[in-house]
Amino acid sequence: MKISLINGSPKNRGSVSGTLLKTLENILLKTDIDKKIDISNFKISNSNIDRSQYDTISDSEILIFAFPLYIDSVPSHMIKWLSLFEDSFSSNDIRIFTIINCGFYEGFQSKNAISIMKNWTDKANLKWGQGLGVGGGPTFFFEKTIEQNIGKNLYNGLKILSTNILTGNDGENIYTTPNIPRFVYMLTSHHLWRRAIRTFGGKPKDLSKKL
Ligand SMILES: Cc1cc2nc3c(=O)[nH]c(=O)nc-3n(C[C@H](O)[C@H](O)[C@H](O)COP(=O)(O)O)c2cc1C
Repeated sequence: MKISLINGSPKNRGSVSGTLLKTLENILLKTDIDKKIDISNFKISNSNIDRSQYDTISDSEILIFAFPLYIDSVPSHMIKWLSLFEDSFSSNDIRIFTIINCGFYEGFQSKNAISIMKNWTDKANLKWGQGLGVGGGPTFFFEKTIEQNIGKNLYNGLKILSTNILTGNDGENIYTTPNIPRFVYMLTSHHLWRRAIRTFGGKPKDLSKKL
């Protein structure tokens, strides 16, 4: 089974989307399901589309996109990529899975962006597999965090995705939150924002400045 993992984060080095794909790849490779799998990795980080990637991608049976939620939607360079290739797939047996991570606590925030990916799948005449909306994305920058208690919901979501990928099933979209109370996530995030602005020579009160 040929699988393409497509990281759509614009970050060149280190991204939550990359960590989520790496973890999913490890789960796929460790599975008990008897399937020979051949995984290729791709990065779409800006709107300079690398057309040389396209042959391998379109030869896959499964495409798994992972990208961040931007303004409740799909990042613009990904939209360019999706519209460029939507009429080009020769096989309509390709199945599409999508993982969208967001800064808000609730993975449900990515519901509309997952619908956009489902609509694109229909327009491209491909088959929809499943979507996973990951809340509290920045918590999961490091792979080891996903395997700890705080990543329990997410790890289970990735395992369900992996089973559906390998067995040819589709599934209801899954939305996860980190396994900590919402107020703890908010307090920690605010602390990190204050620390970040100080690092860049600003003041915490400037975080709420209206431009
Ligand atoms: C321009 C921009 C827009 C964003 N819009 C949203 C948003 O609408 N909702 C949300 O929850 N997070 C939003 N985020 C946060 C990112 O989704 C979050 O930081 C994510 O973890 C980044 O993933 P990556 O490391 O894979 O790029 C936004 C971030 C940026 C830079």
